[in-house]
Amino acid sequence: MINSVYIHIPFCSTICTYCDFCKLIKNDKWINEYLNELECEIKDKYKGDIIKTLYIGGGTPSSLNINQLKKLFNIIKIFKFSDKVEFTFECNIESIDYKKLKFLYNNKVNRLSIGIQTFNQKYLKYLNRNHNVNIVKEKINIARNIGFKNINVDLMYAFKDQTLNELNDDLDKILALNVEHISTYSLMIEPHTILYIKGEENIDEDLDYEMYKLIIKRLKKFGYKHYEISNFAKNGKESKHNLTYWNNNEYYGFGLGASGYIKNARYDNVRILNNYLDKQYVKDISNLSLNEKIENEFILGFRKIKGINKSEFKLKYNIDMKDIDIINKLLKQNQLKENKEYIYINPKYIYISNNILVNFIDLKF
Ligand SMILES: C[S@@+](CC[C@H](N)C(=O)[O-])C[C@H]1O[C@@H](n2cnc3c(N)ncnc32)[C@H](O)[C@@H]1O
Ligand code: SF4
Repeated sequence: MINSVYIHIPFCSTICTYCDFCKLIKNDKWINEYLNELECEIKDKYKGDIIKTLYIGGGTPSSLNINQLKKLFNIIKIFKFSDKVEFTFECNIESIDYKKLKFLYNNKVNRLSIGIQTFNQKYLKYLNRNHNVNIVKEKINIARNIGFKNINVDLMYAFKDQTLNELNDDLDKILALNVEHISTYSLMIEPHTILYIKGEENIDEDLDYEMYKLIIKRLKKFGYKHYEISNFAKNGKESKHNLTYWNNNEYYGFGLGASGYIKNARYDNVRILNNYLDKQYVKDISNLSLNEKIENEFILGFRKIKGINKSEFKLKYNIDMKDIDIINKLLKQNQLKENKEYIYINPKYIYISNNILVNFIDLKF
């Protein structure tokens, strides 16, 4: 049974200098054709499962106008939703207003994810983003007045020349918003992006680590729970959708560039619009062996600060985690720790968790 759906809307009003996601400058003709094809793909793959989490991401889903949103929301009527569905819609501050937010609220959206990145005008310009504290506050107030009780914001850091003081300033402003969830992202200079072409480089690792520690310290002090390497939530407001990924559970992925995990197979959709419109939805698909499933279970599961539940692991794979040599070795080395229910990465090593996770590649069972 699959309980989660991701839908990708690849259109944006402007392109950010750091972005390597699957995105296109918006164009009404393409949006119309895209939505028609999205409907076909969903009808083709969806098998009537009860959906507990739906995430419409992008790109910028909120860049669609009301008529386009109406068309999108007609398409998703096909899903059988659980009463308690977590329905997230990704927004950019510039493209939301009362009318759109009210439409989303009236159509079951109960979680907004808003890309803020920074409040610092110097870095907003560097990223090709355009907003300010007052506009952000105003839009979030509109959302609150309409009734949204679950809002995530994305905070980015590690810009070239950024100081700890400047990050502190952004943290003050983010905390003042009093949102339920904060996702943090250290800026990665990805190939094919404007920053990469300009020759920009990632900042010094030691400063990046200082910034990460500052974020954890300030967000925890304010009452956020650090529940995943880069994610923080108020009590009970962890992202159920993203936990589907980290719990290595299956999910449908629809749309250009989307990924999915259905019936033991992971797939990536094409990123070229014409191919998608020609119904060549999937670019790569691979059936997972038991070894690969367990590898994913570790690599994704150890991203959660509380780690992997020992009895759930046993139920899923009929293997005791404590019978796995590498788990015992890492426990002895104090890189992993355990309590009655969970095995988890030693919090001391969370920042360098990738160095621990490589141990789980190519295990044989
Ligand atoms: C999938 S993007 C789309 C969200 C939305 N379109 C926006 O830009 O606000 C989600 C988040 O990923 C983060 N992100 C994207 N590219 C990144 C990069 N190169 N380095 C670090 N974070 C990045 C940003 O914080 C962004 O808000
Ligand atoms: S970061 Fe978001 S708004 Fe910017 S180009 Fe990427 S998807 Fe579009």
